[in-house]
Amino acid sequence: MPSKSAAVQTVVFPVAGRGTRFLPATKASPKEMLPIVDKPLIQYAVEEALAAGATQLVFVTGSSKRAIEDHFDSAPELEAALEAQGKDELLRSLRSIVPSSATCIYIRQPAPLGLGHAVLCARPVVGNRPFFVHLADDLIDAEVPCLKQMSAVHAEFGGSVLGVQTVERSETDKYGIVAVEPVRDRISKVKAIVEKPTPDKAPSTLAVVGRYLLSGTVFDKLEHIGRGAGGEIQLTDGIAALLGEEDVYAYAFEGKRYDCGNKLGYLEATVEYGLKHPELGHEFVNVLARILASRLRGK
Ligand code: G1P
Repeated sequence: MPSKSAAVQTVVFPVAGRGTRFLPATKASPKEMLPIVDKPLIQYAVEEALAAGATQLVFVTGSSKRAIEDHFDSAPELEAALEAQGKDELLRSLRSIVPSSATCIYIRQPAPLGLGHAVLCARPVVGNRPFFVHLADDLIDAEVPCLKQMSAVHAEFGGSVLGVQTVERSETDKYGIVAVEPVRDRISKVKAIVEKPTPDKAPSTLAVVGRYLLSGTVFDKLEHIGRGAGGEIQLTDGIAALLGEEDVYAYAFEGKRYDCGNKLGYLEATVEYGLKHPELGHEFVNVLARILASRLRGK
């Protein structure tokens, strides 16, 4: 199949959100730095983008987000100390967080005006090229990283691609919801998209879950749409404005998604990633089994 589109090089990570659901943990530290076992959420996000071929990593930050910049920067004192102690494995893991072929760029969102506004802040760097948007609190565990799967859809069909998943009807008011026409297995064409509709108004139960591959045209739309749901400039509304002019596809990705933006989803991810961890998994399963057995015995 000939490729319709060049590889996507830029990924935008909107990381300016306040993380109020995790207070007080997120009072002085960004929610994207919450760890799942031994890596912060934002590192999983960066690894997924790198695996999809992105080389330009654009973080749209806000106040109290310094830790993210520090995390992806070198740490000469720490590295020297690890070197002196002969902790080579740890040293390697620190140095490989971002390969030298990738560039990190930080843009400050001047005010919390919504996801669409955060994405628009990245326009001077992205230009008119297609780009990824990745929301780090949607953690997706997949054999082929989700953005890479979406890249393949884009290479074949062109247009924009949204990562989607079916949710309970009672949950539609937490997501951008799409109405679609099927194209083939896992791929459909978006006919309408609406931000956080109540269950009775939702056009379907197919929800966008934090992965987007967008045409640069969306910036023109975001500039003009004004405030939408919750009084914010919504990315969903920018995408809605693309429909009819450009193709937008919904892609039901392969993999399991954890909603790490809420405590229960975060705990579930922690347990599952703990169980799969190459060094800890074996012992952790016993720890869990002991806890559960004693719970079930009523102790
Ligand atoms: C944002 C988007 C929403 C999308 C969701 C995915 O909402 O506005 O359309 O479905 O992310 O996680 P938020 O979770 O930031 O309220």
